[in-house]
Formats: sequence, C-alpha cells, structure tokens
Amino acid sequence: MKKILIVGANGQIGTDLVQKLRKINGEKAVIASDIVLPQNKDENFELLDATDYNAFEKLVQKNNIDEVYLMAAILSAKAETIPNKAWDINMKILFNALEIAKKGFYKKLFWPSSIAVFGPHTPRINTPQFTIMDPNTVYGISKLAGERWIEYYHTHFGVDVRSVRYPGIISWKTLPGGGTTDYAVEIFHEALKNGHYTSFLSPNTRLPMMYMPDAIDATIQIMNANADQLRIKHSYNIAGISFTPEELANEIKKHIPDFQIDYQPDFRQDIANSWPESINDDYAFKDWHWHHKFELESLVKDMLENLSPKYQKAEEEVGF
Ligand code: SER
Repeated sequence: MKKILIVGANGQIGTDLVQKLRKINGEKAVIASDIVLPQNKDENFELLDATDYNAFEKLVQKNNIDEVYLMAAILSAKAETIPNKAWDINMKILFNALEIAKKGFYKKLFWPSSIAVFGPHTPRINTPQFTIMDPNTVYGISKLAGERWIEYYHTHFGVDVRSVRYPGIISWKTLPGGGTTDYAVEIFHEALKNGHYTSFLSPNTRLPMMYMPDAIDATIQIMNANADQLRIKHSYNIAGISFTPEELANEIKKHIPDFQIDYQPDFRQDIANSWPESINDDYAFKDWHWHHKFELESLVKDMLENLSPKYQKAEEEVGF
C-alpha cells in the first residue's frame, strides 16, 4: 500500500485533498498532519510543525511515507503583514521536505506554486509558462525561489518533485485564509448569510481562478503522471477560469436576485494588480492532458448548492 502524508491537512486545499486521496487509496493510506488539531476527530492524524526538521523526518520514517503533499504556507495577503516570518516559514517547510526526500526517506513530493510568481512586468493576458517573472510580494518571491529550488533538487539530487501554479482556489468545505483571491469564497458566504458583500478588490479586477475539484484533479494527475512525460521541472501553469468580482456577483445574482455588492479596495488590490488576468497552460495540456472542467456558471451553482443548507440550518437554529 502506498503511504501518503499531507502537510497542512486542515487548510483549504488540504481538507479536500485528504478526502479525495483517502477515497482513492483508503483511509489508512493517508496520514493527515497540521500544526493544530482538526475540528473533527481523525484516527489518521498527526500533529506536525513542518518547520521542525527532526519532527518532520521522524513522522515520515515512522509511517513509511512514499509521497508527501506539502500544502502548508502563509498566503499572499497575510505574508505582507509578517514578511520575514512568512519567508522563513514558507522556505523552511520546503527545504525540510526537500532534504528528507534527498535522504531517500520518501519518493515523491507535491509542492504547490502559484500565479503569485508573476509580477507587474509579466504579460497579463494568457500568461505563458516561460516569461518575465518579477513578483513583488513576499509570498510570490518565496514561490518563485521555491520553483528554482525544486528544479535544483531535481537536477542535482534526483528528487522527484511535482508542482503546479495554482490560481485562486474556490471551495466550500474550508475557508481559505490570508489570500488575495479569498474574496471569491467570502462572497458566497456573505451572499447567503447577509445578502450583501463588500469586496476588497475593485469590480473589474480579473484574476485566474479554479474550482476545488479541478485543483484536486490537477494535483493528483500530475503526481500520477510518468516522470518522463514531465518536461517542466519547476512548476506548470494551469488555467481554470478568469472573472472579475462584478462578473462573479452577477452570476450569484442569477440565483439570489436581491444580492448586493459594493467595493472597498484595500492593500490587496495592489497585489491583485501585479498578477495575471489569465493563464496559458499549453505545457500542462500537452504533457499530462490537463484541462479544467468547471466554468463560472457550474462553479457558482455547485458552490451555492453545497453552502445553502449550512446557512438554512443556521437560520432554523436561531428560530427564523
Ligand atoms: N490564492 C493565493 C493567494 O491569494 C494565491 O496563490 O494568496
């Protein structure tokens, strides 16, 4: 049985990834780990501070891990408030994972990169795989540095690392925390709870986004691809959909006609302005047949279907 370790299992992507990998590989094959305990009891959970090299290595050895998915990170907006700490954490976790792999304690690593690796001089529309990269956020700098390091570990030490540049990820199971694209998740909760949302990005800020099931598919697909299919040894561009806060609000209004949105851009607007509007993912398509499934319409419908019961229940409980 293949043994898998998810680091950052309580986070937005970690939560969905653990469930999907357990469905595929069996409950016991997937060890979930995080720096804090999960909300629901989990027999196959281990507390782990992944910045602690010895603890990380011990956990990998104790559980005979074959594959690690490194989903812990300080995201873009949060990182701007604690720049040095965010850099330390994001890089330390990656180096620990790379060193443990280099020693041969497990076989394959998934490490996510992000659209944040691009910057103000990058062509913003249909951004190519190879282009100008001048990220101006701590998070983006750490992801770009990370991309160079994973390629280095691959070339010099034969470490098998797989990576994609995630766009903003939208999901209903767990909230994201500290990202610039978080508005696209918050908006659903606020629409259902209050019928109103104040966006911290301006109405016309177009960003690349992806629905969680697509992000999970991309992650598992690249991990299962044959190594010799993968020409890119740093991180693959993957495209989903691109939309603005206004377009998302209009799509939500089709289901909740009274929904209102207003706009109060804050410091996150500058971060968003430095990122692409849309992504070219030809390499991922050619090398491992990547293509997203969810478009804006299907994403909004599915989000509302999954979140509505939660808020209906809350209303019943307070006696509306
Ligand atoms: N969604 C992330 C963020 O906003 C980008 O990788 O920080």
